[in-house]
Amino acid sequence: MATLPPGPKGLPLIGNMLDVPKEFQWLRMEEWHKQYGDIVHINIFGQPMIILGSLEAVTAAFDKKPGIYSDRPRMVMINELLGWDHNVVTMRYGPAWRDMRRDFNQHFRQGAVHRYHLVFLRQLCKLLDNILAQPEEILEHLRLISAATIMDATYGLDVADKDDPYVTIANRAMAGASAAALPGAFLVEAIPLLKYIPSWFPGASFQRKARVWNGYTQALANKPFEALKANMVRSYSDMICTVTPSLHLQRSDGTVRSSVAETMLQAACARPYCACPYCACPYCLQTAATAHTFVLAMAMYPEVQRKAQQELDAVLGSRRLPDFSDRENLPYINAIVKEVTRWQPIFPLSVPHASSEDDYFRGYFIPKGSLVVGNTWSLTHNPAYYPDPEEFRPERFLTADGELNNNVLDPYTSIFGYGRRICPGRYFVDASLFSIFSGILATFNITPPVGKDGSFVKLKPVMLPGAIVHPAPFKCVVKPRSNSAVELVRRAHDEIQMNPETHNA
Ligand code: HEM
Repeated sequence: MATLPPGPKGLPLIGNMLDVPKEFQWLRMEEWHKQYGDIVHINIFGQPMIILGSLEAVTAAFDKKPGIYSDRPRMVMINELLGWDHNVVTMRYGPAWRDMRRDFNQHFRQGAVHRYHLVFLRQLCKLLDNILAQPEEILEHLRLISAATIMDATYGLDVADKDDPYVTIANRAMAGASAAALPGAFLVEAIPLLKYIPSWFPGASFQRKARVWNGYTQALANKPFEALKANMVRSYSDMICTVTPSLHLQRSDGTVRSSVAETMLQAACARPYCACPYCACPYCLQTAATAHTFVLAMAMYPEVQRKAQQELDAVLGSRRLPDFSDRENLPYINAIVKEVTRWQPIFPLSVPHASSEDDYFRGYFIPKGSLVVGNTWSLTHNPAYYPDPEEFRPERFLTADGELNNNVLDPYTSIFGYGRRICPGRYFVDASLFSIFSGILATFNITPPVGKDGSFVKLKPVMLPGAIVHPAPFKCVVKPRSNSAVELVRRAHDEIQMNPETHNA
């Protein structure tokens, strides 16, 4: 008779509630892996949780048994009261999720991402111009480009600044979803029947909050969608916008969609921008958190920055901005993209899956309804794959000849999640990060601030905990690399302003 996997012994009723720290849980789980092995079981108030801490374990569960390990836990607040039930991330596994996912993949699969190259380049020109104007606000500009890129790609909308109404709508919706998703924050998650009590009932403040947050969700689904329809005359958005083809279909066959189809279409519109309902960062975009980590790493590791700039100069000759056609000639930049995502994964515990039936797994019993968590931190910080894992060292991904080394475990096998629920936005993100990192390195130098004693302040990778992990605010100094870099940024920006449908310099 198989038993549950090993793990710390819990207390009656609350189980391991007190064993799980409120912050940086993955570090405690890493200790458990050392003590109990790569499959650990805990329970929180009777809810079993299985933590998988090795490549073998995540592959055996998520890849080999996708029919069992691809569900999500029931989320009463998010899905049932806030109206996120059309969102791919939080949807339960089943036909509706499969349809949405297929549709999403159509627009974001590897072979489709080239459609957004122009969007990335257009946004990059704006980013570099913003950095030139206010270098001390680089982190803010990176938040903006992350939001603007997705708004541009998805709706063809031009997000000009952080006070843009669509960004505000998205921020509100995200803030509501983040608060609603906080583990243990709402009793209704443990007792779903409570969702039927009226909002005036004593103790039902969650209903009032849910009503307000639901309004934000609806605004996010409706407002950009309405703007998109009104904006369809913009020629370049017609060509590249992911939802526009559906609208074209609607027009060309002359049929009127039912309101249900319309709702699905709206949900599809809101979907990519709202990739993560757990995020508490402004603009809620994972790309921004990763880009902040990049800036921190460049300020901390001047030697890496210098090598990257040498590679860029050799390929571009300081005369133009990097383009996607340069990518294969920039292995060191590609290695930086991978190392940033590995060094400080923004989802150290990925997003929990749920098991949809009882299973026996590597000799252990896994009950139906268990939360099943891939401990991404353990994978990306395993010294067997990545020696000195705390060090930021892009060279680890390169051969002695400076080419990408296929024998090193690709961090994309874990940082984007697992099995059938693996992040469908990963090719989009990868291209976006390449564009941002190479563009900044080609034109700017990033250093730590200078302290009172005249030497550089020593920066540390202090990360803020949460479902999405991002660097704590830090200071750095950003300066153009040269006068010709200033010229290059201005010229590229002017050209893209005059003709947004073509590439810059
Ligand atoms: C650095 C940026 C990003 C990282 C590290 C990341 C990582 C992840 C992870 C870990 C998951 C959960 C996978 C699982 O359950 O096993 C996920 C899900 C998802 N991501 Fe991303 N993501 C990023 C950006 C994006 C972007 C920009 C988009 C949209 C274009 C996106 C779309 C999605 C969607 C739709 C899901 C839900 C998939 C499902 O449940 O079937 N992600 N992502």
